[in-house]
Amino acid sequence: MPKLRVGVLASGRGSNLQAIIDNIESRKLDAEVGVVICDKHTAFALERAKNHNILGVFVNPKEFSGKEEYEKAVVECLKENRVELVVLAGYMRIVREPLLEAFPNRIMNIHPALLPSFPGAHGQRDAVDYGVRFSGCTVHFVDGGMDTGPIIVQAVVPVMQGDDEDTLAARILKEEHKIYSQAIQLYVEGRLTVEGRRVRISS
Ligand code: GAR
Repeated sequence: MPKLRVGVLASGRGSNLQAIIDNIESRKLDAEVGVVICDKHTAFALERAKNHNILGVFVNPKEFSGKEEYEKAVVECLKENRVELVVLAGYMRIVREPLLEAFPNRIMNIHPALLPSFPGAHGQRDAVDYGVRFSGCTVHFVDGGMDTGPIIVQAVVPVMQGDDEDTLAARILKEEHKIYSQAIQLYVEGRLTVEGRRVRISS
């Protein structure tokens, strides 16, 4: 059977990409990474792709007249590489119509908080500042909003006395590295159905 081809979009260090690659290599995840696309040429995710003989592409947003045009080029690259599922892994951009229309219910994101709490770019810091006792991470399908799409899986971690943004982020990141691959594997197995806001997981 051909493996599900995943396209990873990343902007930075790419530890979630690395976890996905590692889980594929250790056969916990039955997929292949068809391409890694970055919007920053300095993104370490590109190095990680290279280290595993995966195609890494820098699509430079500055080369396009606007955000939609940039995203159309990203879609083209995903299609050229026969991607079936798009995985956002530390991709610090709002997804727009071109991508949403090309991959309906086929884009996942990971967020470092228990959505719908603390969406946005500082999920861990916002959780510490608010004083919650538990936080965690969420894998969800992407819709037109900021971290608003239907939730697939979540993991919970405690917030300790004395935690700061960095210590909480490290605790959450360990869980991110597990649940992203779990969510992708559920997709691979055809076990996810989106019903309005809710995602049904069949057994
Ligand atoms: C991860 O913690 C991810 O959840 C977060 O960025 C980090 C990327 O790390 N994403 C967001 O905050 C999206 N709103 P990585 O590049 O090492 O995977």
